[in-house]
Amino acid sequence: MAKKRKRNHNSYHEREAPAAAPSPVYTDLKPPDIEGAHLYIDPNHIPWDIEPKIADHAAAAKPDGKLIMLDCFAGIGGNAIAFALSGAYKRVYAIEKNLAALECARHNARIYGVHDQITFFHGDCFEILGLDENKQSGKIESLAQVVSKAGIIFGSPPWGGPGYKAAGSSFDLNGNGMPYSLEYMHSRFSTVTKDMILYLPRTSDLNQIADCVERNEKAQIMHYCIYENSKALCAYLGSWKKISLA
Ligand SMILES: C[S@@+](CC[C@H](N)C(=O)[O-])C[C@H]1O[C@@H](n2cnc3c(N)ncnc32)[C@H](O)[C@@H]1O
Repeated sequence: MAKKRKRNHNSYHEREAPAAAPSPVYTDLKPPDIEGAHLYIDPNHIPWDIEPKIADHAAAAKPDGKLIMLDCFAGIGGNAIAFALSGAYKRVYAIEKNLAALECARHNARIYGVHDQITFFHGDCFEILGLDENKQSGKIESLAQVVSKAGIIFGSPPWGGPGYKAAGSSFDLNGNGMPYSLEYMHSRFSTVTKDMILYLPRTSDLNQIADCVERNEKAQIMHYCIYENSKALCAYLGSWKKISLA
């Protein structure tokens, strides 16, 4: 029998332009070689845009009983820091496999005064959560357990580059442009928790996201826009409450 799916397709528009265009700020730490990497100097130099809005939505709509946020691809910490600043979690955990990026994230968390609310792990999130059949020795059992009991997974996986820009109006989330396909991430992460937020290209193929939604369940897709142009979307999968645009 064909699956019947319902989904909400909303958007949040960042209508007000920031007073000054954010510019990269570097210290004597070396920023990692990833697009958009910044070292924060102080909270007035916020080189981020939509992370606080995602954190607001997550805090307001989070499923009941969820006290833990796990950022599986933490990068330089923008999302993890915003989740910690939201005050909605007992603990934020953040995994990053690039050591330089992880050091930036730690530095940035300190700048924002939330370093003692985030526990950072260096390594591969699939391995650390025990989701890679071939690498079970790296599993951190206690983390997998706590997330499985009371956690939400946030995943902002790598994507972008020429493949993403050339994809036109529908980006194949299970194709070569994604180092980790949507199918792979969703099937693995779901064994830990069904409640997750996946940060994906704005032109993502929504039917592929709908394929992750069980019969009689709903997903919410939220576009995050700057100057009224979508920058990316988040798929809220699991038991999220309705996200309000107010
Ligand atoms: C798009 S960036 C994340 C940006 C992040 N949300 C931020 O605010 O800075 C993706 C990150 O995932 C990391 N990464 C890629 N594969 C990973 C894996 N299997 N486990 C953990 N981190 C991974 C990359 O090193 C990169 O820093």
